[in-house]
Amino acid sequence: MRIRRCTVAWLEPREVATFELDDLLAGGTGVVSRLCWFAHAPHLPAAAEIDAGHVPVLGALGAVDWIERDGLDARFGADAVDALLDAGLLLAQGDGDTADDGFRAIGWHPPAAVAHLAARWEAIDGPKGMAEADVDTSEGLLRNHGAPPPPAPPSAHPGIEVPLPRIGRNDFDALLDSRATCRNYPADAVLPVATFAQLMARVFGARGIGHSAPGFDVYKRTSPSGGALHPTDCFLIVQRVEGIAAGLYRYRVDGHALEPVVPGVAPPRPGDAGTRPLGETPSRAWRAEELRAFARIAVAGQDFFADAPVLCVLAPRFHRNFWKYRNHAKAYRVCVLDVGHLSQTLQLCATEAGLGPFVTGAINEVDIERAFGMTAYAQSPLAVCGFGQRAATLVTSEFDPNRRVWPR
Ligand SMILES: Cc1cc2nc3c(=O)[nH]c(=O)nc-3n(C[C@H](O)[C@H](O)[C@H](O)COP(=O)(O)O)c2cc1C
Repeated sequence: MRIRRCTVAWLEPREVATFELDDLLAGGTGVVSRLCWFAHAPHLPAAAEIDAGHVPVLGALGAVDWIERDGLDARFGADAVDALLDAGLLLAQGDGDTADDGFRAIGWHPPAAVAHLAARWEAIDGPKGMAEADVDTSEGLLRNHGAPPPPAPPSAHPGIEVPLPRIGRNDFDALLDSRATCRNYPADAVLPVATFAQLMARVFGARGIGHSAPGFDVYKRTSPSGGALHPTDCFLIVQRVEGIAAGLYRYRVDGHALEPVVPGVAPPRPGDAGTRPLGETPSRAWRAEELRAFARIAVAGQDFFADAPVLCVLAPRFHRNFWKYRNHAKAYRVCVLDVGHLSQTLQLCATEAGLGPFVTGAINEVDIERAFGMTAYAQSPLAVCGFGQRAATLVTSEFDPNRRVWPR
């Protein structure tokens, strides 16, 4: 049998703490640490723990050339080679199209792939975790972390600053100053379809098309994009838009339309931290409370965002960018920056429409991928934005020191 290593396998020595009753009964703390090795291989669903004795095997063969396994068996033992084959870190030639082939074809820069895949959350409740760590308030942050770095760094050369003129304000300043992250959405407000459609066209729609070369078209959007490639798709959790059935959708840039997405997970229950597999039951349209439960999972338990009538999942199709910037050290960063630009355009367009916008990076990527049917190394969410009518009363805090949004 001929084998090779998977495309990317980065090894992490990790200290794993577990609770051991025996240790507690013997007078210890009950918390026992164990040193172990994890292999980060982005074609696998999660980092895989491997035996310390198997680590050298991964360094003894490459990710390109296939070699006979006999030599490795003789050096490291057949059990070690079998264990790594079972874990998906070694691959046998002739196994057909594997996830590793799929990953290899995308063109990831290896450290970026490891960083993105390792930073994904599943079933995390952000506010709960922050409260437990006592870092959910300014006082708690100061208690635990001390004073923060200053909001502006002091001058390195006092007295030589070049003062700039202060230009009079106009309507654009008023628009910019009235943007504030919204954390107060009435759970029953329905968004007019015209407002929704206009926002989608302004933020995600194609404003033009360039035919760069035969077979290579690029869309013009209102936000810039690295290489003009616009890899970012907008997936939607539509909860309350007039005339549109509540559900999961993908915005079609070509055609300015919503494509319904059949959920790839079981209908979530209110209060669930994460999604559950679909199992044997066929997928069905979700009821309003199930969609709300999924919105809450998507934004990692941030209830104040989950009430927005529309949530936008910004998820690049990485190969669209990496096709040009292949194995490029900056390519993933450019995808992240693209999403930030789209989000800011959304923030301003929603504000102009009289709505409250938000963006969050505290998201359960794994649950979102499962629900929308994404393969993480090919397409994965980087942020969730949303918009909707602002509530009449402030319940959850918003940052509005100049009272542009919330009158005194
Ligand atoms: C990338 C990014 C991630 C954010 N994530 C969260 C979040 O998880 N939860 C939240 O309440 N606000 C989040 N925010 C909003 C910030 O808290 C907010 O921008 C900040 O408090 C300043 O308030 P302003 O947007 O009203 O100016 C995020 C903002 C950005 C740009």
